[in-house]
Amino acid sequence: MIRLQKVLAQAGIGSRRVCEEYIEDGRVSVNGAIAELGDKVDPDVDVVEFDGVQIGVRPGMMYYLLNKPTGVVTTASDPQGRPTVVDLVPQEPRVFPVGRLDFETSGLLLLTNDGDLTHRLTHPSFGVDKEYLAEVEGVPKRSALRALREGVELDDGPTAPASVSQPAENLLKLTIHEGRNRQVRRMCEAVGHPVVRLVRTRIGPLTDTTLKAGQWRELTQDEVRALERAVRDPDD
Ligand code: URA
Repeated sequence: MIRLQKVLAQAGIGSRRVCEEYIEDGRVSVNGAIAELGDKVDPDVDVVEFDGVQIGVRPGMMYYLLNKPTGVVTTASDPQGRPTVVDLVPQEPRVFPVGRLDFETSGLLLLTNDGDLTHRLTHPSFGVDKEYLAEVEGVPKRSALRALREGVELDDGPTAPASVSQPAENLLKLTIHEGRNRQVRRMCEAVGHPVVRLVRTRIGPLTDTTLKAGQWRELTQDEVRALERAVRDPDD
């Protein structure tokens, strides 16, 4: 927890001394309630407003949500010269993809210059849920769904239990929290139903059904906070 005036000063509102006056004048609120001098906050979680305007979660940090099209690589630069996800978003400040989607996979991808959040989002121990829609060959039976739910054996070990539903005969909705290479494709293949088309539809709290392939938008402050909460170390 950090003193409120320090958080305000770091966001560029004014010196700490001046920010203390703003707090005393009742111009600052925390989570909707007028703040008092001496209040401490967690800037990653608490909503701090100055004159009714929310201040940035992490100044200087950019967060883009991209609907990655197929045929684009998830790296910052490709030795073979193929288009990359980084080409699709603003070039300044430089941002990097969080995790990866295969060349042929489309859907939601986060790009940011926040290395700390990237580290925690990609660290297996935090296990942020990712949801995929997979069009598969054939019509999976209940036994295949059960196997996917319980975990299937892959070359690099068994998969953790997944949540699986079947919105249409040849369509599977899978939610996994691991991020192994080509994991969903390998899981579906392992139960006899290779993937024909794969789309990521959710990353933790982030969804968006309005972004067209190749389009991006900035995350809202609330979304950044929701992500922070999703990767929060319970001991912090
Ligand atoms: N699983 C896959 O098989 N591919 C992806 O791009 C993401 C998850």
